[in-house]
Amino acid sequence: MTNAHDSASAITAPDMFDFSQSRALQPRAHQLIPGGAHTYAKGDDQFPEQAPGFIVRGKGCHVWDVDGNEFIEYGMGLRAVTLGHAYEPVVEAAYRQMQLGANFTRPARIEVDLAEAVLEVIDGAEMVKFAKNGSDVTTAAVKLARAYTGRDLIAICGDQPFFSTDDWFIGTTPMNAGIPDAISEMTLKFRYNDLESLRKLFDDYPDRIAGVMLEAEASTPPAPHFLSELKDLCEQRGAVLIFDEMITGFRWHLGGAQKFHGVTPHLSTFGKGMGNGFAIAALCGKRDIMRLGGLDHDQPRVFLLSTTHGAETHALAASLETIRIYREQPVIEFLWKQGEKLRAGVTEAVARHGLAHHFELTGQPCNLIYRTKDEKGNPSQAFRTLFLQELIRGGIVAPSFVVSFSHADQDICRTIDVVDEALSVYVKAIEQGCQNYLVGRPVQPVNRKYA
Ligand SMILES: Cc1ncc(COP(=O)(O)O)c(C=O)c1O
Repeated sequence: MTNAHDSASAITAPDMFDFSQSRALQPRAHQLIPGGAHTYAKGDDQFPEQAPGFIVRGKGCHVWDVDGNEFIEYGMGLRAVTLGHAYEPVVEAAYRQMQLGANFTRPARIEVDLAEAVLEVIDGAEMVKFAKNGSDVTTAAVKLARAYTGRDLIAICGDQPFFSTDDWFIGTTPMNAGIPDAISEMTLKFRYNDLESLRKLFDDYPDRIAGVMLEAEASTPPAPHFLSELKDLCEQRGAVLIFDEMITGFRWHLGGAQKFHGVTPHLSTFGKGMGNGFAIAALCGKRDIMRLGGLDHDQPRVFLLSTTHGAETHALAASLETIRIYREQPVIEFLWKQGEKLRAGVTEAVARHGLAHHFELTGQPCNLIYRTKDEKGNPSQAFRTLFLQELIRGGIVAPSFVVSFSHADQDICRTIDVVDEALSVYVKAIEQGCQNYLVGRPVQPVNRKYA
């Protein structure tokens, strides 16, 4: 392990923060919890060694770790916290509802209230069913598509990183231990912005593809007509089109990426931003498909998202309040505007440091991500780790540059300054070797086969 302290040419190691409480807690966490965290993307292998290990509280876009260090955070709960941490109106709405009871023997009235609120903002959807996690609703969409079409295969966009924690998706990733091939083989992959790749799947598996799932947009925008032609193709071949709006929903547009791009899928799935961090997800869609999960038809019934906690009342109250705030305040405009400021500042800093071939900022302003490359221009986890390390040294935790409604101008300005400082170290590392500046091991891909 190379330590920046050992190198004469190296900058001062990131010792301005004391992480001793985090360091003490980490072995305990790994002893008790496989992976040391309940979400792999939050795990130690995703962050530099010199990083806050555990957070105790957050307010707006600021968080405090177990050592009392304060950071500006980006991404915020894997993009779930779109308004801000501990956002008072949402917390109060959830608390008020908690005092009335969390879960009853019959449905709570608020289930209908939130269904109305969601269907008012998601234009093309006629029915909705709630759940706790995004994975629950994407998996439910797959089941519903299979039941509706009587077919067995699912086609997913192979260029997009994540659709579910369930076997039908995880079986297609390198981390597929415990999942029978028979299940993985029922999920096929097509390429984003490549209609022919999907047409070929339909040709190779005639009358077998039940549903086509993709994010309408991830890091690359759709080519002109791609989404509308994709929908036409699905309809010609009798497949259900499903947009996964976990990230795009309540971020691209209040009506989701489907509204932003003007293409309405048959089913769509939401989560993350719809509850400002509370556990709530939704499967929305056309009545003739969704009703198979109901009681008013004579088809075989689909077991559609029936769980003990699916309609936990305070999560529904949090979502209702979150949607109210989105409707009454310019949340979406703010996300785009602050993201644009950040993009402009970071792009300028990258150019100033001559790093255009080594650091790429991509995605829409409301959902900025970055890619790090080494001295040869190849994707580099070591340089990602170094960049994360240098941001943390400046008080910024930013696995992405995804903003929230709480990222004020001063947070954005501070971030641009810290990015500028981090990039000056990046330049030295390009010239003299990343290992001279990186403290400890590099981060690794989340879904990899071996630890
Ligand atoms: C696009 C997308 N779909 C589905 C999911 C799964 O959501 P959850 O983690 O809430 O199960 C995620 C989670 O990151 C996601 O980014």
